[in-house]
Amino acid sequence: MEERIMKLFPRLADITNSSLRGTVIEIWKETVEQSEFSLDDLEASIIPFTLLISELVENGIAQTTFVDHTNEVTEAAICLATSLNRSGAGIDMDNLIAAANLHDVGKLLEYSWKDGAVVQNQRGKMLRHPFLGAAVATKYDVPLDVLQAIFGHSKEMADEKRSLLCKVVNRADFFYFTAIKEYLVRV
Ligand SMILES: [Fe+2]
Repeated sequence: MEERIMKLFPRLADITNSSLRGTVIEIWKETVEQSEFSLDDLEASIIPFTLLISELVENGIAQTTFVDHTNEVTEAAICLATSLNRSGAGIDMDNLIAAANLHDVGKLLEYSWKDGAVVQNQRGKMLRHPFLGAAVATKYDVPLDVLQAIFGHSKEMADEKRSLLCKVVNRADFFYFTAIKEYLVRV
């Protein structure tokens, strides 16, 4: 299972702290086990990254997947953080990669299968993925700024003071979402 997770998310190999990398993989394992989805589903490109853009799912096939999104947000976050670090921001890149990789892990608990389609379940409607992902991650020894990025990458902490690392993940995520929604959706 570990090898399959590493293959799904290649940037995990760039986390130099093997303990943190192992923790990230454990969080994926536990979340997949708690969810209605399997690693086969993640590998098969059938889970959309959002249900807020209906055109992303046609004939049950996600055109832009949860795994694509996770990897692209991670790439974008690495670029932003690398740039900021050149100006002395001091963002911990291990934590940044872990946070970007895990930011949407809770979507596996927010979504369910219904009649062959991926839908938001009742738990997802009431708690949303930032809380659901953070709830799993709190069971592990995860750095606080990684935890904050999981819980605070979306609107849940929009009015709160967030760490720069959290803000980078937030901006990378919304940049990707907005670009797909407004420019790249294939209809
Ligand atoms: Fe996201």
